[in-house]
Amino acid sequence: MELNGSSIVVAGASGVLGGEIAQRLAAVGARLTLSGRSVDSLRRQQIADAHPVVADLRDPVASEALIGAANAAHGRVDAVVNAAGVVAFGAVEDLDSDTLEELFMTNVFGAIFLSQAALPLLPAGGTIAHISGVIAEQNFPGMAAYGASKAALRSFNEGFGREARRRKIRVLDIRPPHTETGLVNRAIAGTAPTFPQGLTPGAVADVVVAALGDDSVSDVPSSMFG
Ligand SMILES: NC(=O)c1ccc[n+]([C@@H]2O[C@H](COP(=O)([O-])OP(=O)(O)OC[C@H]3O[C@@H](n4cnc5c(N)ncnc54)[C@H](OP(=O)(O)O)[C@@H]3O)[C@@H](O)[C@H]2O)c1
Repeated sequence: MELNGSSIVVAGASGVLGGEIAQRLAAVGARLTLSGRSVDSLRRQQIADAHPVVADLRDPVASEALIGAANAAHGRVDAVVNAAGVVAFGAVEDLDSDTLEELFMTNVFGAIFLSQAALPLLPAGGTIAHISGVIAEQNFPGMAAYGASKAALRSFNEGFGREARRRKIRVLDIRPPHTETGLVNRAIAGTAPTFPQGLTPGAVADVVVAALGDDSVSDVPSSMFG
């Protein structure tokens, strides 16, 4: 996929990984639509010419509006990168239903809604990439529900990817290891365990952008991050 000139939607662009990915895509000439939940958080990215759209991905109507806005702004949508997500920590017996709902609505339902909105507009050769995470490969105590949401996303990507392949659309499941974005300090519930030093957000974004630009890549497991 030629990134230069492509119209690419980055959901979660107001976040650290989404922001790093968006910066790199802008640098190679992609035409961007950036989404987050607030105008203020999107303004922080300061990417010239990017089209900002406020969207809460838990709402399927918001996903449709986001993809429609990207299509209206750039005349087409070639790829969607979903870097939106939330984390929660804590023992299973301490997780309340609001936390579980936000985890699964954002990390799973939101990704599915976004995929449903994007698929009809993507041309053959297009890509939908969702960031799940290394925890989709192996779960840990204190992260059971977060890990389950990411494993659900990974499974969705696998099945959806096989469907979309018939239309020559590539679906990427991206599983970075722990990364120093500060996400663990923005948990919607619980306190993070101690993690070993993580990767830099820039190093993770480099791998993601390289995968987007290389049609031979069909999966981005944790092992690809070195
Ligand atoms: N950091 C890690 O160690 C790591 C490792 C593996 C995978 N991941 C995954 O990578 C993704 C990005 O993580 P990050 O570390 O960059 O976190 P981050 O900086 O907190 O970014 C999270 C992004 O998700 C957006 N978001 C949250 N809930 C949303 C909703 N309901 N609707 C729309 N957008 C929503 C946030 O938007 P607002 O600005 O509006 O809050 C923000 O843009 C997440 O899915 C995370 O699970 C992270």
